[in-house]
Formats: sequence, C-alpha cells, structure tokens
Amino acid sequence: MAAYTLYLRMSGIIALLVLAVFADAPAKLTRDEAQKLKSPAAYSKKSIDRGRVIFMQNCTSCHGENGKAEGSLIADATDLTTPSLYKSGTTEGEIFHSIRDGAGDQMPAFKSQLGGEGDIWNLVNFIRSLWPESTRPPLQDDK
Ligand code: HEC
Repeated sequence: MAAYTLYLRMSGIIALLVLAVFADAPAKLTRDEAQKLKSPAAYSKKSIDRGRVIFMQNCTSCHGENGKAEGSLIADATDLTTPSLYKSGTTEGEIFHSIRDGAGDQMPAFKSQLGGEGDIWNLVNFIRSLWPESTRPPLQDDK
C-alpha cells in the first residue's frame, strides 16, 4: 500500500516536471504566427552587445564573424548583412523564428541551446545592427 501511494506521488511529480519543461517550448511557430511577434527587447546598445557575444559563441562557424558567411563550410548560410538575401523574412518575428526553430535544411534550431528566448531577441537585434544603416531600426533606450 505504501509503495503504491509512493508510486502515485512520484508519477504526479514526474507529470508536473514534464509539463514544466514543455510549457517553455511550444511547437514550431508558423510563419504567420512569427510575423505577428513583437520583440520584448528594445533595439538598444545593451541588447545588441549581448547579442554579439552570443553570436560569436554560436553562429560564426557558418555565418562568419562579420555575418557575411564568406568561406563558410556550409555554402548556403545566408549573408546576414544583406536583408534582401533573406529567404525566411526580415521582420523581427521572422528572424526570431529562423533562429528559434531553424530555417531551410541546414540552419539548426536554437530553441533549447541558448539561455532562453530573451537571448534570441538579443540576437535579432545584433543581426539587424549588421544591416545597412538606412534599413536599421532607430536605436532605442533600454525598456
Ligand atoms: C550549422 C551552420 C549554421 C549555424 C551554426 C547557424 N546557422 Fe544560421 N543559417 C544557416 C544556413 C545554412 C541558413 C540558410 C537556411 C536556408 O536555406 O533557408 C541559415 C539561415 C539563418 C537565418 C535566416 C536567414 C534567411 O535566409 O532568412 C538567420 C536569421 C540565421 N541563420 C541566424 C543564425 C544565428 C543567430 C545563429 C547562431 C545562434 C546561426 N544562424 C547559426 C546555417 C547555420
């Protein structure tokens, strides 16, 4: 009897743990859903600087340190400095989506590899800071 009660308690706890893990990681977004997303991170110097650090740690092997993907081992990595070359959209939500869920055949999903969605938004800001000045958003103060 005691063992059975313990078993029930344990399965309850495991179910809660499973819920907690999946609550943070909903399934892939559709492109429409992605377009509607609004970044919680201001396009600020602080956010761009944080994004740069994460980019240098996770993204340069394919996109290069300058984002241009020159000499990349994976020939098809997008030149992130030129918005007109993007295949999966250039709104903040679409860029977030490409990083979070992956893009094309070779861009990995980073959903569970970075510190959390906040850092994905910092990456979005860093990437936009690589664009030609006329296509960048105006620099903001931190929210
Ligand atoms: C294993 C190589 C690889 C790594 C590592 C990688 N990418 Fe990519 N990335 C790609 C490829 C290849 C594509 C082009 C996908 C396609 O064909 O649509 C791409 C596409 C993208 C796109 C979408 C551009 C478009 O065409 O719309 C963004 C944004 C992006 N990467 C950002 C990042 C960021 C930020 C990181 C680091 C967190 C990263 N990538 C790491 C290979 C990589």
